[in-house]
Parts: sequence; structure tokens; C-alpha cells
Amino acid sequence: MVVIIALSFTFLLLLIINIALVLATTSTAISGAKDWCKDSCGNVSVPYPFGIGPDCFLNSWFEVSCNESSTPPTILKKINMEVFNFSYDLGYGREYLRVKSPVILHNCSGRERETKNQTVDLTGSPFFYSGRNKFIAAGCNNKALISGIKPRIVGCESTCNGDTLFGTSNPNKTCNGSTCCETVIPSYLQTFNASFESKTSSGPQGCKLAFVVDEEWLNFNITNPSDLLNMDSVPALIDWALPKGINTTYFK
Ligand SMILES: *[C@@H]1O[C@H](CO)[C@@H](O)[C@H](O)[C@H]1NC(C)=O
Ligand SMILES: *[C@@H]1O[C@H](CO)[C@@H](O)[C@H](O)[C@H]1NC(C)=O
Ligand SMILES: *[C@@H]1O[C@H](CO)[C@@H](O)[C@H](O)[C@H]1NC(C)=O
Ligand SMILES: *[C@@H]1O[C@H](CO)[C@@H](O)[C@H](O)[C@H]1NC(C)=O
Ligand SMILES: *[C@@H]1O[C@H](CO)[C@@H](O)[C@H](O)[C@H]1NC(C)=O
Ligand SMILES: *[C@@H]1O[C@H](CO)[C@@H](O)[C@H](O)[C@H]1NC(C)=O
Ligand SMILES: *[C@@H]1O[C@H](CO)[C@@H](O)[C@H](O)[C@H]1NC(C)=O
Ligand SMILES: *[C@@H]1O[C@H](CO)[C@@H](O)[C@H](O)[C@H]1NC(C)=O
Ligand SMILES: *[C@@H]1O[C@H](CO)[C@@H](O)[C@H](O)[C@H]1NC(C)=O
Ligand SMILES: *[C@@H]1O[C@H](CO)[C@@H](O)[C@H](O)[C@H]1NC(C)=O
Repeated sequence: MVVIIALSFTFLLLLIINIALVLATTSTAISGAKDWCKDSCGNVSVPYPFGIGPDCFLNSWFEVSCNESSTPPTILKKINMEVFNFSYDLGYGREYLRVKSPVILHNCSGRERETKNQTVDLTGSPFFYSGRNKFIAAGCNNKALISGIKPRIVGCESTCNGDTLFGTSNPNKTCNGSTCCETVIPSYLQTFNASFESKTSSGPQGCKLAFVVDEEWLNFNITNPSDLLNMDSVPALIDWALPKGINTTYFK
């Protein structure tokens, strides 16, 4: 009983800290770069507080480097994250960063790259994984976990039912619970370790994969879920916040 109370207290405390952070911020309505700064890189526009080059970004967290020969051409330098859109408006009154999220996979035929986990640590930064992302895992006998989130572990398990990794019967549901599972992730997530393991050491051990993905993109832009098998990365949404007390003169 005492333990349970202690745990839920920690959880409450975390929630309170998160809410306080959010209230201290305004992350909407950004447009354009500072007058003397490059306002785009390739075809990605880079609005202030993000910026390319000295004096063009608010602080080092918002510094962007531009490499027009890579896709996407923009990278948030300090957290080493590739960005598709700096101001992605889903119509919820907030703008998100749309970033490149790797597909982690193991033992998938035709795929040389093997990555059994993804470690993300944005602690201390103004960036958070949005709760509008989902964690998806597919594969027979697969147990996928997001760990490092206190006080709980988020994850899901898939069994083996047929050999299609993703469900196809309902176009709005990538996973039908057989060979693929999905779960929501908590809002304001800054650090996690996504990984997977076999549920049992015996039994079938085929291709396994997992990724954190923008839920809307998955629902509206993926018509054939098996296309996911050929992707090295998918888009994910990052929410961000301004430090308290910032002079917002440049936010038009
Ligand atoms: C611009 O965006 C389109 C669509 O995402 C992409 O196909 C194209 O390669 C991009 N062009 C440049 C120069 O980045
Ligand atoms: C730019 O991107 C290309 C393609 O990914 C890469 O080969 C090149 O080294 C990058 N240049 C810099 C300066 O990072
Ligand atoms: C996001 O980026 C993509 C390609 O880089 C572009 O086609 C799209 O218009 C952008 N969306 C928004 C809302 O900026
Ligand atoms: C998982 O990631 C950590 C940190 O990047 C690394 O040390 C570890 O070897 C990885 N484990 C696997 C099974 O790939
Ligand atoms: C999920 O899809 C697989 C393959 O298409 C099918 O065999 C299975 O019956 C489906 N399960 C449910 C619960 O719809
Ligand atoms: C999928 O979602 C769209 C848009 O919300 C809806 O119009 C459609 O009926 C849904 N299809 C199924 C099979 O649920
Ligand atoms: C991530 O999880 C994997 C598998 O559980 C583990 O081997 C690795 O040490 C973890 N990495 C970190 C940084 O926690
Ligand atoms: C890889 O998958 C094949 C079946 O496609 C299975 O026979 C083999 O044991 C798996 N290997 C590992 C290391 O999981
Ligand atoms: C996803 O689909 C919507 C609606 O069809 C479209 O407006 C949007 O540009 C698409 N996004 C991407 C990244 O393809
Ligand atoms: C905000 O910055 C502008 C331009 O640098 C300056 O004119 C203004 O006085 C500043 N406002 C505050 C409250 O510091």
C-alpha cells in the first residue's frame, strides 16, 4: 500500500512539473526569420526562434544547420535531429516540428541495417515528443518497449497470426493486434529508449520492427501499411516551448 502511494505520488509530481513547464511557454505564431538571416534551407522554411548562422537563432537549442544535399536538408544542431518542418500546423493551435524518426529493425530480409534500439535524450532542451505520436511494433513473437520513462514502461506485445506484419482489413488501423501492436506515448516525453526483444526464446523469430510515428501521418498518408516495411524512417512530432521571460519582439 505504501509503495503504491509512493509511486502514484511520483507520477503526480512528474505531471505537475510538466504542466508548470507548459504554462511557462508560448510556442505558437512564429513566422519568418530575422530580417538579415537566411529564411529557408532547400525547401524547408526556418522561422525564428530557429535560425541558420550567427545571431539568427534564439539560443543554441534553436541553431539549425543547412546541408542542401541531404534529405531533409535541415538539422537541429545541438540535439542532432533532422527536421522536415519547423512549423507544422495540425490545426490544434500549436505548431510542431516534424522530424525524422528512425525505424528500428531486426532480422528483416532485404534490409542490411540492423538497429535494435533507439535512444533519445532531450533532457534540459525545450523539445518534447508530442503525445500525438504513437509507438508501433510489428513482428512475430515481438515485445516492444519504451523504457526510461518514470514511473512506468510503455509497450506492447504481438503474437503470431498469419505472416502479414501489418493489418490490412481496416485502412484506418495499421495494427489489428495480431502481428503488430500499437500504443500511445505520454505527452512531453524527453527521454526514452525504444527497443524490442523476443517474447519467448523458442518459437518463430522473423522480422521485427518498431518506431515512434506521427499518428495523423500514419492514418492519413499511409494507405498501404506494408509500405512501412521499406522505410528507414518515418515522421514524428516534436512539441517545443520557449524559456520563460523571453522577449518576443521577433515573433510577429
Ligand atoms: C522539396 O520538397 C519535395 C517534396 O517533399 C521534394 O521532393 C524535393 O526534393 C524538395 N526539394 C529540395 C530542393 O529539397
Ligand atoms: C551534406 O549531406 C551529404 C549527403 O547526406 C553528405 O554526404 C555531406 O557530407 C554533408 N555535408 C556536410 C558539410 O555535412
Ligand atoms: C512540410 O514539409 C513538406 C516537405 O518538406 C512540405 O511539402 C509541406 O508543405 C510542409 N508543411 C507545412 C505545414 O509546412
Ligand atoms: C542500445 O543503445 C545503447 C545506447 O546507444 C547501446 O549502448 C546498446 O548497445 C544498444 N543495444 C542494442 C541491443 O543495440
Ligand atoms: C489481423 O490480420 C491478420 C492478417 O490479415 C488476420 O489473419 C487476423 O485474423 C486479423 N485479426 C483481427 C483481430 O482482425
Ligand atoms: C477511416 O477514416 C475516415 C476519416 O475519418 C472515415 O471517413 C472512414 O469511414 C474510415 N474507414 C473505416 C473503414 O473505418
Ligand atoms: C536500451 O534498451 C536496450 C534493450 O533493453 C538495452 O540493451 C540498452 O542498454 C538500453 N539503453 C539505454 C541507454 O538505456
Ligand atoms: C531470422 O528470421 C528467420 C525466419 O525468417 C528465422 O529462421 C531466424 O531464426 C531469425 N534469426 C534471428 C537471429 O532472429
Ligand atoms: C498527408 O495527407 C494530407 C491530406 O491528404 C496532406 O494535406 C498532407 O500534405 C500529407 N502530408 C505528407 C507529409 O505527405
Ligand atoms: C525586446 O527587444 C527589442 C529589440 O531588441 C527592444 O527594443 C525591446 O526594448 C525589448 N523589450 C523588452 C521588454 O526587453
